[in-house]
Amino acid sequence: MSTAASFPNIKSPDCSVELVSKYQQLLKQNHFIYLETKDSNFDWIKFAKLVTDKELMPQYGKEIFHVRYEPELLNFSDARGQKPVLPHTEASDYPSPPEYLALWCQKPSDCSGGQTTLAYVEGFLDTLTAEMKQQLMETQHYFGATRGVHASRTKGATHPILSFSDDKPILRLSYNYIKHGDYSPDPDNLQPFNPGSFLSEIADRFLEYYETNHLAIRMEQYSLLLWDNQCMAHARNTYSDPTRALDRIFLG
Ligand SMILES: [Fe+2]
Repeated sequence: MSTAASFPNIKSPDCSVELVSKYQQLLKQNHFIYLETKDSNFDWIKFAKLVTDKELMPQYGKEIFHVRYEPELLNFSDARGQKPVLPHTEASDYPSPPEYLALWCQKPSDCSGGQTTLAYVEGFLDTLTAEMKQQLMETQHYFGATRGVHASRTKGATHPILSFSDDKPILRLSYNYIKHGDYSPDPDNLQPFNPGSFLSEIADRFLEYYETNHLAIRMEQYSLLLWDNQCMAHARNTYSDPTRALDRIFLG
């Protein structure tokens, strides 16, 4: 399902107070925004900072992360690989994960794949029992890559998988990490890992919910996709076009 038609689509937008205010309302209402600009010079980083009222956060040592095909990651469930990226919230191994993520599309994939997918986590939480949610809120969980291509990418972080800010859910969860102990495993060569029956069931329910309740967005060239990383999970479909090129920022 494409959401592009549901939102204002304007050419060469500026960062006017009116435009920023409109997208702030859309972000609050939908937890994500999608904007097609058709303008290679659109200052998407300034716009993202204004809409979120947040600053850039470094992501693995960089302010702008280039989401590009990397041949050595071909076989992995990774942003820079071609295999499907399974649902997660970003940077659960950060002590304070980014509040927002934004993607800017320099070059869409020429194949039919490579769509970014999103799902609001409240529907997933509704599939859990009150006891399960309580356990997720009360248990401190360690997030830190100790295996695979991202081993030791951060020092790791310990926090509950679920918390709330007022009524807003804050989820820190990666299907791959919880299920396989690896943020970006090779799905065709999974290594033995035992997350325990409770977390295994949580991961399975998360994936099952996500597979039937996500939005899939094929970003057009010079479009911006920005979402709330606390209450929206994301993933990416498989694709086969090595020229696909996105830029990513963290805000918080
Ligand atoms: Fe991600």
